Amino acid sequence: MKIDGKPHRTIWVGADGWSVEIIDQTKLPHAFEIATLKTPQDAAHAIKAMLVRGAPLIGATAAYGICLAMREDPSDQNLITIARMLGEQRPTAINLQWALQKMTGVLESTAPDQRVDAAYAHAERLCDEDVETNHEIGAHALTLIENIAEQKEGGAVNILTHCNAGWLACVDWGTATSPIYQAHDKGLPVHVWVDETRPRNQGAALTCWELGAHGVPNTLIVDNAGGHLMQRGDVDLCFVGSDRTVANGDVCNKIGTYLKALAAYDNGIPFYVTLPYSTIDWSLNDGFSIPIEERSQAEVTAMSGRLPDGSVATFDIAAPDTCAANPAFDVTPGRLVTALITERGLCEATTEGLLGLYPERNGTAVSP
Ligand code: MRU
Repeated sequence: MKIDGKPHRTIWVGADGWSVEIIDQTKLPHAFEIATLKTPQDAAHAIKAMLVRGAPLIGATAAYGICLAMREDPSDQNLITIARMLGEQRPTAINLQWALQKMTGVLESTAPDQRVDAAYAHAERLCDEDVETNHEIGAHALTLIENIAEQKEGGAVNILTHCNAGWLACVDWGTATSPIYQAHDKGLPVHVWVDETRPRNQGAALTCWELGAHGVPNTLIVDNAGGHLMQRGDVDLCFVGSDRTVANGDVCNKIGTYLKALAAYDNGIPFYVTLPYSTIDWSLNDGFSIPIEERSQAEVTAMSGRLPDGSVATFDIAAPDTCAANPAFDVTPGRLVTALITERGLCEATTEGLLGLYPERNGTAVSP
């Protein structure tokens, strides 16, 4: 999407033709800095320390991590070791394992002396596919915005989103934001309520920033405000992303998503989950089997922000010995989801719904 009118992606190969460049998302929104990855360990660090984050983008970064590994040593053993190491960096988003399986699948059937070129070509293909897939998700979901815009006869369509399922979480477009960008670019009046998304504030730091940079009207709200806005009739629909959706339609996404789904359900507000096929884990049939990442207590007991002198600092918001828990994701049961929206269209968040969109999975997905 655009920053100052200039189109950007979140990951690309540098001018030297081999190093990998990313936007360092830990610096946003206070600074726009590019980081260069030169080794698979750099890629692993970028994923773990969340210089890159968001399910599709960590998959893309891992794919390029494999490219960097193949430059150093294209042997079978190195491929296995590095794929395992990259896959261990974050446990919840399935796109990480998906991308690594795609890369190893291609490279295992490629002679070692051809693996560097094959790896870069395939990583580029995965990134291009992510862009196309997210565009398609947006094209399907756009109809939902158009219908509400028609009913509201020119009034802004108010969309609530959680965390950052924007272009910063993907290679481009985003999943939840793709229909929003497409509606905005078509001239439809859209306005986005952005949950701040404690503890890491992906909504405040990333979603507001990227929507603003593209010119989409948005308002930051604290995580607890969504239910109140829904009760007042100030939310027309919700779009969120997913880190892993399992075969029965349960959705795992950033912590707090479940509470928004409950509030939307209670208020009769449509709650849509946008996801590419690479986010579906066909091997699980119950969202509660998904491993939930537990992150550091310090993310809860401290916050970082810009000080009046312009410097960025981290400061405590709790007493020094405070004990904190920090589960990073939660599970929204499919029954609370109005529809899943993938590159193939909309479906019910059920086994039947998903198999209707992906009939080739009949017989391969786990039985209910
Ligand atoms: O911990 P993060 O920032 O990687 O979590 C990201 C999310 O939960 C997103 O909503 C999800 O990955 C969907 S991104 C299209």
